Amino acid sequence: MNEHDGYRPSSYGDSFADVYDDWYADVSDIDATVALLGSLANGRPLLELGVGTGRIAVPLAATGVSLVGVDASHAMLDILRNKSDAAAIIAIEADMAALGQARGLSDHGPFGVVFAAFNTFFNLPTDSAQADCLQGCHGLLFDDGRLVIEGFVPPEGGLADSGVSVRDVTASTAVLTVSTHDADDQLIRGHHIEMRSAGNTMRPWIIHYRTPEQLDASAEAAGFVLDHRWADWHGTPFDPAVHDVHITVYRKVSSP
Ligand SMILES: C[S@@+](CC[C@H](N)C(=O)[O-])C[C@H]1O[C@@H](n2cnc3c(N)ncnc32)[C@H](O)[C@@H]1O
Repeated sequence: MNEHDGYRPSSYGDSFADVYDDWYADVSDIDATVALLGSLANGRPLLELGVGTGRIAVPLAATGVSLVGVDASHAMLDILRNKSDAAAIIAIEADMAALGQARGLSDHGPFGVVFAAFNTFFNLPTDSAQADCLQGCHGLLFDDGRLVIEGFVPPEGGLADSGVSVRDVTASTAVLTVSTHDADDQLIRGHHIEMRSAGNTMRPWIIHYRTPEQLDASAEAAGFVLDHRWADWHGTPFDPAVHDVHITVYRKVSSP
């Protein structure tokens, strides 16, 4: 992904791995996530895209389901593999935009559910990478398998062009979030900048956000239909006028 200044599929994970569990443990209701994904899988194997350090995968695997996680970041997977309760998770280092090339992945399928939580799908920085990912998911699912994507809803009035905010301040550190926004490409590029007396750490990220309608069109082009759209992992009906996050379930219907 040279067009994004050297940003690679592994860039996000490699630069956030050391703080990920501290910073993002509580971003969503894990019990509800696990319950909903388990019921959608109905005893069939699951695949998590961008499994990271296993925030969801570890408790999900603890329910006894068969679970594979792919992630492009070696650093993220190292942390996952070193967790004592992650032994049952099959972790594969791969780009989710190239699932067909992920070594050994198809041997563990077909899958009942493929899912991408917490805006992970938007980590794919172009329309074509997202389309390739959807196509890869289609190929790995059972004929009636489900694809589940959690994403934020871009605000109606648009996003700010650029911004700086304070994420955290302690007596010895400050973490700033800086970002720029390209509305035409629906791309937000940012850094979390962690400042300490010992030096600064830059943690880069890219989000190629899509509206729910755009996601639906891409999913349909890849051979999926919309099954459900919820506002949370409890299954609250989604209302675009109210909710800023959606959990969308697509069902595989045909060849892309
Ligand atoms: C926001 S984190 C989510 C981690 C975990 N799923 C969770 O919900 O906490 C996104 C994860 O996706 C991974 N990732 C980003 N781009 C990827 C890509 N192209 N292919 C595979 N993994 C990717 C990152 O390394 C990171 O672990």
